[in-house]
Amino acid sequence: SVMEVTESFSITEHLENVFAQAFAIAFPEYGNIPVIIAPVNSASAKYGDYQCNNAMGLAKKMKEMGVNRTPREIANELLKACPASPIINKMEVGGAGFVNVFLSKDYAAKALQNILRSGIKPPRVPKQRVLVDFSSPNIAKQMHVGHLRSTIIGESISRLLEFLQHDVIRINHIGDWGTQFGMLIAHLEDRFPDFLNVSPPIGDLQSFYKESKKRFDTDEEFKKRAYNRVVSLQTGEENSRKAWTLICDVSRKEFQTIYDRLDITVKERGESFYQSHMLSVVDFLRKKNMLEEDEGRQIMWSDEGKSGVPLTIVKSDGGFTYDTSDMAAIRHRIDEEQCTWIIYVVDSGQSTHFNTIFKAAERCGILNPTIHRANHVQFGVVLGEDGKKFKTRSGDTVKLSDLLNEGMKRSLEQLCSRGRDKILTPDELSEAQEAVAYGCIKYSDLCHNRISDYVFSFDKMLDDRGNTAVYLLYTYTRICSISRKLSEDVSNLETILDTVEIVLDHEKEWKLAKTLLKIHDILLKCSKDLFLHFLCEFCFEVCAVFTEFYDSCYCIKKNKDGEIVEVNHSRILMCEATAAVLRQCFYILGLKPVSRL
Ligand code: ARG
Repeated sequence: SVMEVTESFSITEHLENVFAQAFAIAFPEYGNIPVIIAPVNSASAKYGDYQCNNAMGLAKKMKEMGVNRTPREIANELLKACPASPIINKMEVGGAGFVNVFLSKDYAAKALQNILRSGIKPPRVPKQRVLVDFSSPNIAKQMHVGHLRSTIIGESISRLLEFLQHDVIRINHIGDWGTQFGMLIAHLEDRFPDFLNVSPPIGDLQSFYKESKKRFDTDEEFKKRAYNRVVSLQTGEENSRKAWTLICDVSRKEFQTIYDRLDITVKERGESFYQSHMLSVVDFLRKKNMLEEDEGRQIMWSDEGKSGVPLTIVKSDGGFTYDTSDMAAIRHRIDEEQCTWIIYVVDSGQSTHFNTIFKAAERCGILNPTIHRANHVQFGVVLGEDGKKFKTRSGDTVKLSDLLNEGMKRSLEQLCSRGRDKILTPDELSEAQEAVAYGCIKYSDLCHNRISDYVFSFDKMLDDRGNTAVYLLYTYTRICSISRKLSEDVSNLETILDTVEIVLDHEKEWKLAKTLLKIHDILLKCSKDLFLHFLCEFCFEVCAVFTEFYDSCYCIKKNKDGEIVEVNHSRILMCEATAAVLRQCFYILGLKPVSRL
């Protein structure tokens, strides 16, 4: 039989299918053997592009069953049993018993032409309804760098999963409920008695919060009234509700300016949304006999052995907690939203909380692990260049708007120091400034393994060497400038595509082609455990391999007078394919490609 290739597929997955068939034909008595396919480092391209590494393991297994075969014999039989595939040029048995696979240049040229004609098609995966809970700052408190990380990572994960055709629900689980609102409302009533008619000018909600907290801690009468307002808010009393809305609006506007600047899309559905669901989840848990009395509180253990920390479902004063809202939320997300995959992008400090929530949800039958997947996508803390927690010089927490402003300032300084302000139009300059400023902040966050802490340094992120947004954006503009060099008629991509075939004879052309075609594998790898640094590494590799290609393969030849004397159209197509691959990755990483920088 012949293995069919679709337009959009992962090379690794295709080869896994090829070898799975070979196993079924050559060694049916050993059942389903999980196929191991590994890409070969391009420095050892003479050993092929991909390897199947199963023969050694199978030889061992056979030996245990009394059959003596060498791995090389097994590899040879496997090779013979492989169905023909249009993506494979040849196969060889090498080393201790590897099957080396060499990709077909014809196939690669066609695949690249397809990318140029119809864009990058997502690799096929079973479609899921996924909820991504990200950003999630708290009303009246600073949106801090931890929330910035969640915002950046959550946006990129959403874009990745949307590209893979999942049905993605982006949710901003804002902290807009709880006892702190009692004191905020009571304080609002005192400071702005006319708040129902005149919108109160609370520009600085943080200090407003601090003031009310101080009164709460020192003034018994105020404290009583604050508790009272919590109750009136939760029972829906009109004036308290209005005061609450006013306060939330102030924070909401602040958050939105950050989202607008960074191009973030997320739907607000804060803790308050779950008020009625909290009532019903408590009922549900009580009926299931999950609640236990503990010094006036209602607690729930996540496992019957009562290990770890229990959840507090109802406080002794009858109020609900963060635990209650997350139990209500996970139930709503699974039962009502019909999600099969729930992703929480929250700092590592909350991993115990989420593990307990997931286990508890499983224990009481909300979450069925054979159907539902819940992931805490955790990330480390942001450190300053001194290796300590990220703070301003004076020791305060950094305001996000100040941080973005600083990025804009540094980015402009860098562009001017290169004299770009004299070359670019004012529009191009401000576009470049934004692309660099916001791009480098996002990319420096995404390019490290998110689990480790990361050091925030404008100097490092604005470096144009190494794996940085600036380097990638520059490489992209270099590619754009190549096609700009061509006169109008030849630079028309469609015309070239209709008349020219991609040729991959030069070693560097072939290397670039194989690198670009890894994109599907990389996207699948990123989505598996939700790690975006693999995609960053891939972009970096594409840029480096492109540079090798461009250094040794001319695309346009000019004479002494700067006139074009020869154009290699196949290589122009390679440049365009590289640009297309980078654009797709940039989109997922939240980078804005600019054609001039
Ligand atoms: N507001 C919380 C915080 O700032 C994060 C909420 C995360 N989402 C959730 N479903 N618990 O720490």
